Amino acid sequence: MYMKLIKLRKELKDLYIQQDKDPADVDFIISELLHVSRTELNLIENVDDQEEQIIREYALKRLNTDIPIDKLFNKAYFYGLNFYIDEFVLSPRQDSEILVDTAIKYIKENEYKTCLDMCTGSGCIAIAIKKNTQIDMLASDISNKALRVAKKNVKINDVEIEFVKSDMFEKVEGKFDLIVSNPPYIASDDIEYLDKEVRDYDPLLSLDGGDMGLKFYNEIHNEARRHLNDHGMLILEIGYDQKQLIISLFNDFNLIESVKDLNGIDRVLVFTK
Ligand SMILES: C[S@@+](CC[C@H](N)C(=O)[O-])C[C@H]1O[C@@H](n2cnc3c(N)ncnc32)[C@H](O)[C@@H]1O
Repeated sequence: MYMKLIKLRKELKDLYIQQDKDPADVDFIISELLHVSRTELNLIENVDDQEEQIIREYALKRLNTDIPIDKLFNKAYFYGLNFYIDEFVLSPRQDSEILVDTAIKYIKENEYKTCLDMCTGSGCIAIAIKKNTQIDMLASDISNKALRVAKKNVKINDVEIEFVKSDMFEKVEGKFDLIVSNPPYIASDDIEYLDKEVRDYDPLLSLDGGDMGLKFYNEIHNEARRHLNDHGMLILEIGYDQKQLIISLFNDFNLIESVKDLNGIDRVLVFTK
């Protein structure tokens, strides 16, 4: 048996609209499942029973559980690259591409040779930087399960990165020209107010930044100097309201630049020691 795809799309989109969800997700899900682009969807007249069943299953799962699309398909795009994503890692955020852009700019300008990505998660930041520079990259995370994902992404993207499982700097040895980090930075008290997609599907370990979201910036502040070469640089992603707090915390470093995200929010701070 066959069903007209246009009819199925309309039925599912109506359900999404009724529940105040974005109907564009329906087309995104169907094109992923049928391995076609969204424009090509319009050229497909019918789906068979099996295709219809799986489309319904994925579209309803997204609708009823709020699972983010990248976790629904275990797949994310970041900095033009493909990543495997699962429940053990933060879904890569578009905002973090600003950190990658900034790091690449300074690596090229200053001919940096070594970089540490602290709190690497899926490895998206380390891999995007490595893919676009010649830098030697060490990436660290406390979570074995996240490191497993990051290693898988290294294979997918065909780059070489070293990894260390470490509670912040505990097992990190040596000095680097550049340290980048997007640490957990949500204040513990704010976690319960996050969108369901984030609160229920990004690991708590990747979100919870302790009191005022500053726990990990404090640790980085206390240890970074010891792990930076003399001409070294620190590039941090920060929460939307943390700029002044973090500039005060790092008042014994030199603030080189504050970079805004696409919404005009200060998102990345650049320091030298
Ligand atoms: C906000 S996520 C960032 C992941 C990735 N860098 C990105 O931008 O998508 C923070 C990461 O910090 C890791 N993390 C949490 N506590 C840590 C600790 N004490 N030491 C090292 N990593 C930690 C989490 O496992 C998580 O992968």
